[in-house]
Amino acid sequence: MKVKDKYILVISTSFQLIFFTFIPNFNFMLNEIAEITEKVKSFQIKTHADLTLYKQEISGKNGSLNDLFEMFKTIPGDQKKDVGKALNELKILVAEKFDEGVTFVESNNVTKSDKDETLPGKFLNFGKRHPLNLVNEEVINIFEKVGFITKEGPEVEDDWHNFSALNFTHDHPARDMQDTFFVNKENNILLRTHTSSVQVRTMLNEKPPMRIISPGRVYRCDSDATHSPVFHQCEGLYIDKNVSFSDLKDTLFYFVRSYFGNDTKVRFRPSYFPFTEPSAEMDIGWTVDGKFKWMEILGCGMIDPNVLKNCGIDPEEYSGYAFGMGIERLTMLRYKISDIRLFYENDLRFINQF
Ligand code: DAH
Repeated sequence: MKVKDKYILVISTSFQLIFFTFIPNFNFMLNEIAEITEKVKSFQIKTHADLTLYKQEISGKNGSLNDLFEMFKTIPGDQKKDVGKALNELKILVAEKFDEGVTFVESNNVTKSDKDETLPGKFLNFGKRHPLNLVNEEVINIFEKVGFITKEGPEVEDDWHNFSALNFTHDHPARDMQDTFFVNKENNILLRTHTSSVQVRTMLNEKPPMRIISPGRVYRCDSDATHSPVFHQCEGLYIDKNVSFSDLKDTLFYFVRSYFGNDTKVRFRPSYFPFTEPSAEMDIGWTVDGKFKWMEILGCGMIDPNVLKNCGIDPEEYSGYAFGMGIERLTMLRYKISDIRLFYENDLRFINQF
């Protein structure tokens, strides 16, 4: 029975007593206080729910403590002393218990929802690194070990940085080889077709000696099993006094040994790029289905003196080499992937293999 109900019962009993004796007896309040004191002492507050219950039953506006105080107002003055003392002691106990409970709940970080901690947890699906990222990072590490610094540049470029500064004249057939996405044809703003534009920006902004690589996304209007309209390249550039073709070969041999292994067969083939003279392409020996093949992995050459001049570097004083490679091609060779489109489909059966 709640304190209030008992109170009503006692009041009505007291009226009967008043009727017979005129002396109401409030000793029952001391019993009541003792009972609530025991209840408070044994109350376990471990969670937010326990705290709420404690407030509802004991310490809150409608709890037993308040009921007792209401009742206390009605008892005659000569009986107030003992009951009042006991009631104040209870009040202190109730507050202490409440504070203790709050401290416990907060320090144990018990959540409001009182989740069942024994239930099995949710399985978190950890993602995998994309193979293109794995290879990109590996290539960067290989070059950083021998002093190359990573530089990035904008993907939306202007014609001058992407073509003209690199010796592509306006009607140059090499522009056709790099089918271009134009963002604004009138202003010649385009999506860069190669990362060689970062060479230009670096030469313009820095003084030799410089040794950089610039990995990044490039765009060409081309799409089939071995070409994607968006793909990734890593450009390399080294400019100093007396840089020669043998320095270029040495660096690229080092790269091939590090990436493909010490026994990899390599060859240089003469080639053509508007911004290098002489130019070459590098192939590696590759065995597919038991058959030996040469596979092209990068383009390279000695930076054309015109390009150095365009970028404010004196070709009489400095020389340099440059190279550029496709990250997709390197990844396809490493993992024997035959269709470039697999990289961009986000099929988990593919991605989870790396
Ligand atoms: N930019 C060339 C391309 O996208 C790749 C390349 C070739 C970069 C020779 C170079 C280089 O720096 O010297 O096909």
